[in-house]
Amino acid sequence: MKVQGEHYRTIWIHPDDLKVVQIIDQRDLPHRFVVEDLVTTGEVAAAIKDMHVRGAGLIGATAGYGMYLAAVTAPAQTELVAHLEAQGAELKATRPTAVNLAWAVDRQLAAVRSAAGRDEQLAAARRCADEIADEDAEFCRRLGEHGVSLIEAISKRKAGAPVNILTHCNAGWLAFVDYGSATAPIYAAFDRGIKVHVWVDETRPRNQGARLTAWELGQHGVPHTVIPDNVGGHLMQHQLVDLVITGTDRTTHTGDVGNKIGTYLKALAAKDNDVPFYVALPSSTFDWEIEDGVAEIPIEQRGGDEVRYARGWLDDQIQEVRLTPADSPAANYAFDVTPRRLITGLITERGICRADKDAIGELYPEHRR
Ligand code: MRU
Repeated sequence: MKVQGEHYRTIWIHPDDLKVVQIIDQRDLPHRFVVEDLVTTGEVAAAIKDMHVRGAGLIGATAGYGMYLAAVTAPAQTELVAHLEAQGAELKATRPTAVNLAWAVDRQLAAVRSAAGRDEQLAAARRCADEIADEDAEFCRRLGEHGVSLIEAISKRKAGAPVNILTHCNAGWLAFVDYGSATAPIYAAFDRGIKVHVWVDETRPRNQGARLTAWELGQHGVPHTVIPDNVGGHLMQHQLVDLVITGTDRTTHTGDVGNKIGTYLKALAAKDNDVPFYVALPSSTFDWEIEDGVAEIPIEQRGGDEVRYARGWLDDQIQEVRLTPADSPAANYAFDVTPRRLITGLITERGICRADKDAIGELYPEHRR
């Protein structure tokens, strides 16, 4: 996608040094655009844990390149597969909810295990990292092509008046390698000349909506309005939302959706107001093992200071201010689970389906159990 008119992905290998991976450090957006070099797996792990990069698809792609760096920096005398297993375990421990992380590490391990000899193993790690990233971008592009039909149908029904779409958190291109999941149908609609307007939930406490989704949409010229997290229900009661599209960090093969905290409340409000509620995901975000999302999706809890303090731009620098009384403790559940009964449908790279085991199994028969 575009930054000041220039095409960017969120992660790439340094064009002049194959041992360096470059990322956009998202902590400073939208105030500063910073590209960071990563050289060791430890640096990659810290970048995921401390959210220089975030979002399910990008966490997966970063883990893929983290494993590649683990391979190229491994001391010559080490047994490569054992070394990668240990580094992979370190990467997997960084964030628990997005299933793409473990999926990417395991895909890398399988690729390297199936190669013979050091040179081939290194080549396999490079190939696999690039494949994970390219596939992420391509699957997001494709799901955008499927999802645009939903927006097109509403636009026709409204005789071309703007389609109001509410989204939560950032499931845009910054959360993936390119295009995004929830935003891919929106960008596709906008690029086709369909009038759209996006309600952007600010998404406390880290404000991924206010900081990242708003910035992305602005860079692409998509009309949008940032709203506090608790406004969506009111807008829906007054027919100001035609469609909700969110992303997801882990969706069970039975259709329960783990996503950024607050998604569940939006789904309840959408159900009460007959607003269609869709979740967009590439298949790397399905968890094919677990059945019951509420009981089984691991929910990350982050430090309370993310709730107690707010970061923003003042006097030409990023500053933090405390919002709460100095000694008030804060809880920071980072994700929640929306049960399948509240979801109108899933938008995937293979098409749109109901959020249930049979429909998902029909789209992905190779995973049917
Ligand atoms: O904590 P984050 O920023 O990594 O959370 C992930 C998200 O951005 C959202 O939950 C998103 O909707 C799904 S990830 C594509």
